[in-house]
Amino acid sequence: MNAMLASDLPLPLIGRGKVRDIYAVGDDRVLLLTTDRISAFDIVMAETIPMKGAVLTQISAWWFNKLEGVVPHHMISADADTIIREVPDLKNHRADILGRAMLCRRTKVFPIECVIRGYISGSAWKEYASRGTLAGEKLAPGLTESAKLEPAIFSPATKAETGHDENIPVARVREIVGDAVAQELESMARTVYALGEKVARAQGIIIADTKFEFGRDQSGRIMLIDEVMTPDSSRFWAADVYKTGQPQPSFDKQPLRDYLDAERRAGRWNGDAPPPPLPASVVDATSKRYLEAYRRITGSELDF
Ligand SMILES: Nc1ncnc2c1ncn2[C@@H]1O[C@H](COP(=O)(O)OP(=O)(O)OP(=O)(O)O)[C@@H](O)[C@H]1O
Ligand SMILES: [Mg+2]
Repeated sequence: MNAMLASDLPLPLIGRGKVRDIYAVGDDRVLLLTTDRISAFDIVMAETIPMKGAVLTQISAWWFNKLEGVVPHHMISADADTIIREVPDLKNHRADILGRAMLCRRTKVFPIECVIRGYISGSAWKEYASRGTLAGEKLAPGLTESAKLEPAIFSPATKAETGHDENIPVARVREIVGDAVAQELESMARTVYALGEKVARAQGIIIADTKFEFGRDQSGRIMLIDEVMTPDSSRFWAADVYKTGQPQPSFDKQPLRDYLDAERRAGRWNGDAPPPPLPASVVDATSKRYLEAYRRITGSELDF
């Protein structure tokens, strides 16, 4: 399978995110195509990571299948031949969509990142360490970095058009979408995370936190959309090296982050775009980590 920086399919392009290209399929479906782009420290690298797009799409597809009957979701198919049957315009583009494309029900997206935190890390740890709060709300005292949060915390954020998402209190979510929808999003997010955390844990991966998106389809049904419990939407940690009181290495991006940190320390990179070129060894190590994440979560090899 060739690595892909950007796609060019004969469908109306709705947008390009940091990682996905989004196409319209009629007015009620979308094709989400996950490229092999990678970002670190919010900067998109110039290189592609072979197999990354397929890993992200197929991990999401695996979860959506597991969630059948648990929560409504947007997936129609992540199988290239099925997609081509549904969307014949793609018949000459099988290699471009293989593994990496998902045909989905199109929704109106709620402008909220529904984050569930099962462990305290990242921006949540920073805020807690300095003020004892998360999005302004008090948490139990005495937590250490990377500690398990029991129960897990629903920690929503706004979907920022540019720059960092901003953590917001649940009360703000109620103002934006109304009490009933806020309650439903939190409940669905908790259900999916509880299932995912347990399944991943048994395979040696801790899903420390994860971000869900939800939308409403034309019939008014609220459903889980976007990507689900992938290394890009979540913090994946290796359970066998997990230790509280410190930050944890990232299961997937650590080789890349270590390289970029070293370049920064050596004064060869100032932290802004453009990023430094990545050596083949870093690209290769990162690709292997993504494939390993797929193997651990699903229990089988990703093979295209
Ligand atoms: N079923 C759906 N209907 C409509 N839009 C969807 C659906 N599923 C996902 N999306 C949207 O598709 C986009 C996916 O793009 P992508 O993940 O690359 O970018 P992003 O989420 O904006 O940025 P990032 O993930 O890098 O923070 C998101 O804006 C998401 O809200
Ligand atoms: Mg996204």
